[in-house]
Amino acid sequence: MKKLINQVELEQYAAGELSDEYLNLVEKATEALSGSYSPYSNFAVGAAVLTEEGTIIKGANQENAAYPSGLCAERTALFYTSTQYPTKKIKAIAVVVQKPIGRFPFPCGSCLQVMSEFQEKQNEKIDVLLVHPNTSEVLLSKGLDNLLPHAFKKSHLSP
Ligand code: THU
Repeated sequence: MKKLINQVELEQYAAGELSDEYLNLVEKATEALSGSYSPYSNFAVGAAVLTEEGTIIKGANQENAAYPSGLCAERTALFYTSTQYPTKKIKAIAVVVQKPIGRFPFPCGSCLQVMSEFQEKQNEKIDVLLVHPNTSEVLLSKGLDNLLPHAFKKSHLSP
């Protein structure tokens, strides 16, 4: 037996330490919370995607009485971005939650998988910013490998 150890590298910023560009992105993700439709979980999530040209696309979680028909905030924003701007590269995505859950809001596996797909497609890393709802500190992952090191990729479909 041998242990395979993956090092994870995340950066933690006080709100005041962020660049203006990322501070603005966090602000937009916070604005997106008002678009959350979450009557079942009462757990509002907001996301904002930043493209390489500086366009910002907001997304919020959308729930449904048929529970699996809903969609997370991150994928709402990412799919809209890819539909409206199929050739634009994504520089970053910020995620915020409304409830003071006392932790950074790590995205679910499906959203990380989708982020990973976009990163592979554009061949450039996507910064993921997670905003602590109690302290407004920001956890930054430069690329998806730190959050989903074993993502399933297109290249895995063939030997
Ligand atoms: N949710 C997100 O929007 N993003 C995530 O990464 C995790 C969960 C939403 C889905 C559902 O509307 C609510 O949060 C509770 O799971």
